[in-house]
Amino acid sequence: MGILERIPELACPFCKGPLEEQAERLDCAACNRHYAIRNGIPCMLGDDLLAFAQEVAVQDRVAVEYEQKRYADPYSRRYHSWWTDQMLGLVRTDGRILDNGCGIGLLFEKIPPKQIVGLDLSSEMLAKAARLSDQLIQGNSQELPLKDNSFDLVFCRSLLHHLPQPERAVREMYRVLRPGGEMVSVDTNASILSALPRKLANRGRHFSEEHQNLTRRRLVQMLEPWFTIDHVRYFGYIAYPLLGFPDLMHIFRFIPFKSLAEALLMFIDEVLSRLPVIRTQSWGILIKATKTQGV
Ligand SMILES: C[S@@+](CC[C@H](N)C(=O)[O-])C[C@H]1O[C@@H](n2cnc3c(N)ncnc32)[C@H](O)[C@@H]1O
Ligand SMILES: [Zn+2]
Repeated sequence: MGILERIPELACPFCKGPLEEQAERLDCAACNRHYAIRNGIPCMLGDDLLAFAQEVAVQDRVAVEYEQKRYADPYSRRYHSWWTDQMLGLVRTDGRILDNGCGIGLLFEKIPPKQIVGLDLSSEMLAKAARLSDQLIQGNSQELPLKDNSFDLVFCRSLLHHLPQPERAVREMYRVLRPGGEMVSVDTNASILSALPRKLANRGRHFSEEHQNLTRRRLVQMLEPWFTIDHVRYFGYIAYPLLGFPDLMHIFRFIPFKSLAEALLMFIDEVLSRLPVIRTQSWGILIKATKTQGV
């Protein structure tokens, strides 16, 4: 089966024109650009491969840590699974889905992979995601190589704060969603609690210079011109740094009675997320929105 049969939504990232499939290559008949297909994954970056070279290098290096630490450690895995389920609980997942910035493909374990197209900048992330999916694209979220009005749902899990121009990515998600389509985003919440540790972490080798700590206000401001915001939820307090990121800081390994500690930490986070004012001091923010008609 050819790539255009597996991912009929593919389009030229530059002119959004239709593509023709040749052996190991996609051609844009409209602007005459060519895109290589490597190991079944079309590389739709064009000149962006150079423009995003630093982020690609960082993410290519981090991919192995995601696979061997973040999503391999049983406690971290369960923690990420827990709040991914909270995202999934907010949307309908029976249509065509884009996992924007899919990383190594955590979501493909939760939704039938045939329904999801995974897009990422990093070929190393995609190489790991390929164990679960044959609908992968190497592309740039700020210039999606996808047709207008072609998806029912877009997931955007920890992507926007990596982008130099997240507003462009939001507009692109709007463009590729069908009328009434939904998007769900999980991103940073710049709070007193998270500001200093994030500043220190950003100096590390896991982050490029583009990496930001977005606020709720900024996130809402970028979404509002295109989406109706249905739901905003703060999440991640004490459990978030202790359980979720063994690749960055593995403090949990020193804590005794791990299963009990894990349950307790998650319970405390749940309670904090309901307390007025305190809940705003979270590490993360989850937003579910619907494409506004006729913008
Ligand atoms: C924090 S990771 C999250 C990965 C995945 N969504 C998850 O939750 O495990 C951010 C991902 O965004 C990707 N990314 C960064 N900039 C991108 C861009 N301009 N276009 C597409 N993907 C990008 C990175 O390669 C990385 O896989
Ligand atoms: Zn083109």
